[in-house]
Amino acid sequence: MKVLVIMGSPRKGNTYRAAECIREIMQEKAQLDWEYLMLRDLHLEQCRGCANCIVKGEEFCPVKDDALCLTQKMLDADGVIFASPVYALQVTGLMKVFIDRHSYIMHRPRFFGKKALILSTAGAVGISDVLKYLESVVHMWGFEVAGKAGTFEEFIPGTRQQENDQMLRAAAEAFHAALRRKSPPKPRCMDIIVFHGLRATFDELGDVFPADRAYWEEKGWMKKDACYFVDVPVNPVYHAVGVMLEKYQRRQMRKDSRDTNHGVST
Ligand SMILES: Cc1cc2nc3c(=O)[nH]c(=O)nc-3n(C[C@H](O)[C@H](O)[C@H](O)COP(=O)(O)O)c2cc1C
Repeated sequence: MKVLVIMGSPRKGNTYRAAECIREIMQEKAQLDWEYLMLRDLHLEQCRGCANCIVKGEEFCPVKDDALCLTQKMLDADGVIFASPVYALQVTGLMKVFIDRHSYIMHRPRFFGKKALILSTAGAVGISDVLKYLESVVHMWGFEVAGKAGTFEEFIPGTRQQENDQMLRAAAEAFHAALRRKSPPKPRCMDIIVFHGLRATFDELGDVFPADRAYWEEKGWMKKDACYFVDVPVNPVYHAVGVMLEKYQRRQMRKDSRDTNHGVST
């Protein structure tokens, strides 16, 4: 099992130790090929806001740094641990830059079949927001979020250890079980709605998002009979909801476009 840890802490501190704890638990059950990517050690620059990656394609990003090889590293792993301490109620700046630089993947998801574990540590507050945020992002990228753990610093020795250990063990075991599983997870209703919503957007607004439309066409997601990103049974009720919302969205977009072309203001 190849596991990659994207480490958003600028030091080998609490978050690193929590990741090591997960490694030890997983090693009780399986042979691991484990790698840390310390974001602090990489050449990763801030996004410049041109949106070339979204509109034209990631290869048109003017920043030439390690971002694209990081994407490849994630593709080469079976599972990825996204780890960040809480800084000012959110992920660290290092982690946010990493996410910003991969924003286009929200439009062109590519990590289906890959498992993720979300890990955070905090002094006291903000951990649920960080876990929720990281989960939303990597789920949109296509990862199956198999485990989450948020541990708290021990200001008084012994007060948090049992709780932290239990949480790390539960997350490690869930991650390990997901890594062994071959079948893809069943999509939730919201996943189906997102699929249809994005399809309507990139098809109707293909001139605005040419890279997205081309990618979706290449993947076969624009085909009428495509129900989801991967070939997996979709709950027929979710499918019906998705199709209905897609039709509505397309109609609205066409109407907006007609109104704009005829100078009708809303
Ligand atoms: C700049 C900074 C901001 C922080 N902000 C928060 C915060 O908003 N909430 C919180 O509970 N802990 C906060 N902390 C504490 C860290 O989240 C906590 O110590 C964490 O375990 C550090 O992880 P590390 O040792 O891997 O760097 C902050 C720490 C630093 C250095």
